[in-house]
Amino acid sequence: MTRISITVDGVRYDDDVQPRTLLVHHLREQLGKVGTVVGCDTSNCGSCTVLMAGESVKSCTVLAVQADGTEITTVEGLAGSGGLHPVQQAFHDRHALQCGFCTPGMIMAAVDLIAENPDPSDQEIREGLEGNLCRCTGYQNIVRAVHDAAAAMRAGDAVPEPASVSDGPMPGTPDAEPDAAEPTPVPVEAVPRPVP
Ligand code: FES
Ligand code: FES
Repeated sequence: MTRISITVDGVRYDDDVQPRTLLVHHLREQLGKVGTVVGCDTSNCGSCTVLMAGESVKSCTVLAVQADGTEITTVEGLAGSGGLHPVQQAFHDRHALQCGFCTPGMIMAAVDLIAENPDPSDQEIREGLEGNLCRCTGYQNIVRAVHDAAAAMRAGDAVPEPASVSDGPMPGTPDAEPDAAEPTPVPVEAVPRPVP
């Protein structure tokens, strides 16, 4: 086992992990972050996409130990007291999903895409999301949603502070609000346990 410390959606977690544990399994099974989805066994679908140090990564291609010391944002950390993140709002407004299985990864990839290119063309959106597969909608509404979100963010729509930071502790974490400058370690017994 290897001791790692990662900050997920604004909350620091210290855990012992097997060296072979994938980040996506650590997020889901040890931290209860089940909004991050496993959609394939081949690193193709992108459903597991999260932001690691601000960059989108497929969390099934990263070992948990490789994330040691980093900040991770999952889809569960995007919304805050100010409401949905503009990308989430645009996916909702454009109905850019059917079953929703791909949606967390699509949203996280889109957040990174817009951060790098605030005014992407249709082609740039399609290329930016090419690592994320949607099995059921066709992509037109997803492209429209990303356009809308980019426009909203250019117009100054606020990106909410992560819910875990602005709205107080996550369930199962200590009462004290995490200190961004000097995070408080989370006791092992306070970390959400695997979801059945
Ligand atoms: Fe499919 Fe990660 S679960 S790419
Ligand atoms: Fe079903 Fe994308 S909404 S896979």
